[in-house]
Amino acid sequence: MTDTGSLPPQEAPPGCPAHAGGVRLGGLEYQQTPSQLYRSLRREHGAVAPVLLDGDIPAWLVLGYSELSYVTANDELFARDSRRWNQWANIPEDWPLLPFVGYQPSVLFAEGEEHQRRAGVITEALEGIDQFQLARECRQIADQLIASFAGSGEAELMSVYTHELAMRATLAMIGMPHSGDDTQRMVADLRVSLDAAEGDDPVAAYARVGERIQRLIADKRERPGSDITSVMLHHPAGLSEEELVQDLITVIAAAQQPTANWICNTLRLLLTDERFAVSVSGGRLSVGEALNEVLWLDTPTQNFIGRWAVRDTQLGGRRIQAGDCVVLGLAAANTDPQIWPEGHVGAENAAHLSFSSGEHRCPFPAPQLADVVARTAVETLLERLPDLVLAVAPEELTWRPSIWMRGLASLPVEFTPVVH
Ligand code: HEM
Repeated sequence: MTDTGSLPPQEAPPGCPAHAGGVRLGGLEYQQTPSQLYRSLRREHGAVAPVLLDGDIPAWLVLGYSELSYVTANDELFARDSRRWNQWANIPEDWPLLPFVGYQPSVLFAEGEEHQRRAGVITEALEGIDQFQLARECRQIADQLIASFAGSGEAELMSVYTHELAMRATLAMIGMPHSGDDTQRMVADLRVSLDAAEGDDPVAAYARVGERIQRLIADKRERPGSDITSVMLHHPAGLSEEELVQDLITVIAAAQQPTANWICNTLRLLLTDERFAVSVSGGRLSVGEALNEVLWLDTPTQNFIGRWAVRDTQLGGRRIQAGDCVVLGLAAANTDPQIWPEGHVGAENAAHLSFSSGEHRCPFPAPQLADVVARTAVETLLERLPDLVLAVAPEELTWRPSIWMRGLASLPVEFTPVVH
């Protein structure tokens, strides 16, 4: 293992994760081969390992399948409101993980009955989506996007296809048109607020997204449809305007990034693994099998931050103190040798933890909707551009450095140009 950056033990207060020599969970090295890091962490620490988040902030990474299931099943012990954290005094204002770890009054950080109320509204709204209609809309979006690059014979799919498609499909679900200038600006602002590049202003972009959602809510008040926004707006739970804005942004953010990376990682598998041999049309295993294998081996939300211990407790033989942060190691748990004793990680079933579990899991039927979007995106691309191949050697593909998400920095492909 390369330098994993142990913190000198004398800097850590007794009982905190850094005391045991936390391993930094950042950096490119980790991102390229996380499975090696999980193996070595398991060897050294067992199912629960001390780690360091950005800025060497200590936390626990749960690597074990049964330990992770225990954490997510006991939300009164490992709770979601991050204001419990015993590390806030050490966290700078510009901490990079703040946007999705810092408390917000959204469903993500709600607990108990309040969480049930908010998640219940989202679940009902998602249940209202017609999955056949969604598939038709996704195919239309896919066709539009493919038409924009099909004539050139080459494309970088992360920028022109996967992220764009997942975003437009999500906007269609919340009841916004998936094309037009207004939508284009919203797509650009959402991208910046979720995944800012240098020179971007994510705070201003996030504020514009909030304003745009408020206009959408006003519009749906007047002219309700069968979309998520309309169902949430008219739900008897009576969400306030602020709750609606917060939870709609949460739905958009929660849907876009993981679905885009699910599409990306599935395309990578299909284009690089000879079992799926895309160049021989008809000779490949099904797209459904590839989608499922990705959830086991390259799951889009590889880690989720997290849960915060309500009181002192034990986990995986570790002493966890009240207020400690516990990171859900979803990718690590999926490949836990305890559930794959023969060393082979299979894709035969859907018992992975890629959508988490327990009270805060990805709300049913979101995984099904994501499956419709991802499947349609992959199938349409392979149908329209049947001789699609990677434009670089597989080992040249690099992963984006993110602790949350597993997705490629770019996915360059080539194909015979198609002129419409
Ligand atoms: C249509 C697409 C999707 C929608 C609408 C959606 C929606 C959501 C929402 C609203 C939450 C917050 C739940 C809560 O805190 O109660 C959530 C959580 C989550 N979602 Fe999804 N999601 C989508 C796709 C995905 C995909 C593709 C993945 C990964 C394969 C994923 C993995 C997760 C995970 C790991 C959580 C965190 C659960 C936890 O805290 O334990 N989601 N999702």
